[in-house]
Amino acid sequence: MKFAIILSALLASVLAAPVEGDVESQTDHHPTHPTHPQKPEMVLFPNYLVPIKEAHPDHAHETQKTGMVHWESHTHGEEIRLLVGFDIPEDVGPKCMINFSLPPQQKYGYQWTVNGSGKLDVWGLKSMIINGETSWNTKPMRTSWKPMYTIHQPKNGGMAKVTGKWVPCKAGERMDFEVAGARAGPVFFDWYELDNPKTGITMNVYS
Ligand SMILES: *[C@@H]1O[C@H](CO)[C@@H](O)[C@H](O)[C@H]1NC(C)=O
Ligand SMILES: *[C@@H]1O[C@H](CO)[C@@H](O)[C@H](O)[C@H]1NC(C)=O
Repeated sequence: MKFAIILSALLASVLAAPVEGDVESQTDHHPTHPTHPQKPEMVLFPNYLVPIKEAHPDHAHETQKTGMVHWESHTHGEEIRLLVGFDIPEDVGPKCMINFSLPPQQKYGYQWTVNGSGKLDVWGLKSMIINGETSWNTKPMRTSWKPMYTIHQPKNGGMAKVTGKWVPCKAGERMDFEVAGARAGPVFFDWYELDNPKTGITMNVYS
């Protein structure tokens, strides 16, 4: 009995130990997101949307206006991820938080697609992506083992639920992220990144 108590206390402390590079641990005592009470000071659009494809691991893509993410299973071998880079203006922040939305479908224009689990995971990257040079095989390392954010997009459109804490904005620098299908069953996303109506992945900046 005593042994079990000691063991579970030990286990709890091991589980609570911060992972190296875990961004969440820097922000523990600050308000977290999902229901961020503040209005964003600024909404930033990505400057880079660079796909990387498991089936063409050495092919480097140029930045695109559309985002596509696809994951089927561990053995499918044709995963598509998206590297997303934001140029952060000087003197903004200090809080940055990924946001995602897809407006209700219009009869005209780009028909976005979300199917499967509707869930994406987002990681921070340790170094910058290079447009036209970074490929599946050369993508930068992630800053943490666990995703920084999980995006859950309703399939009929609207604002996604984004879970995860804000991170310090790198004012005057680039902030790069890797977006992949959550390992929660097959998932496919395809959208045209647009500012009006707001479509796709954005970065909310809070003061
Ligand atoms: C989602 O859509 C993609 C592209 O049309 C398709 O390849 C995939 O099989 C679909 N998956 C599901 C779970 O519907
Ligand atoms: C996304 O941004 C809008 C404001 O632009 C805000 O109302 C909404 O709560 C944000 N959602 C998340 C998950 O950040």
